[in-house]
Amino acid sequence: MKDQSDSGGKPILITIDGPAGAGKTTVSRMLSDRLGYKYIDTGALYRGVAREAEKAGISHDDDAGLEMLCGSLRFEFVHDTDGLHLFSNGTDINGEIRTPEISMLASAVSARPVVRKYLLSLQRELGKEKKAVFEGRDMGTVVFPGADIKFYLNASVRTRAIRRYKELSDKRDSPAIEEIERDIRCRDENDSTRTLAPLKPAEDAIRIDSTDLDAESVVNLMLSHVQKHIMQ
Ligand code: DC
Repeated sequence: MKDQSDSGGKPILITIDGPAGAGKTTVSRMLSDRLGYKYIDTGALYRGVAREAEKAGISHDDDAGLEMLCGSLRFEFVHDTDGLHLFSNGTDINGEIRTPEISMLASAVSARPVVRKYLLSLQRELGKEKKAVFEGRDMGTVVFPGADIKFYLNASVRTRAIRRYKELSDKRDSPAIEEIERDIRCRDENDSTRTLAPLKPAEDAIRIDSTDLDAESVVNLMLSHVQKHIMQ
């Protein structure tokens, strides 16, 4: 499909929310490529805070410690040929933030108001110029309630677990699908029941179920909505 950003349209901001393993990262990357937009993976920021907290020996419920930590962080995204890399205070931490331990810790620190407050302003700063696809849990509900187009991407828990397993299966010691499924259920529960910015679709979000759709079909569906919006 043609690069939509050339279609004479105004720059827009697109949000994609949804639970772990729904395919957000893959389709966000593909959609931003097709539009010539930047892509921001906000889960990486929560993972980055979790990694730094672990390194500094700060517990996930130590609000004073987390607040001090956030004040000292300098996160930066760098788009490389092999994808998006998160740098923390000048160090590429991408390889370290994708472990199952950091996944659980990120879910825990993401429930702390001090962490959400710090990342809220950082994310809004990153979205100032629009022409961006933001992927996360509360992009359409809290961070960018005025976003031009909001998507909510979901899939069955089993499908999401199988996708995660395939992502991990080239690494040694990858957990069994049942274990991944348990982790996903646990994170879904944490992310959707927390009082602050819980995972839920924005009222005006376009909901897409990717259980029986491949990434290409999801992206084409999204592009048809983007095109409609640009033509309005
Ligand atoms: O998308 P992910 O799995 O990389 O996200 C890691 C954790 O961060 C996830 O459990 C919930 C949290 N998160 C959040 O609370 N808000 C966001 N916008 C993005 C992620």
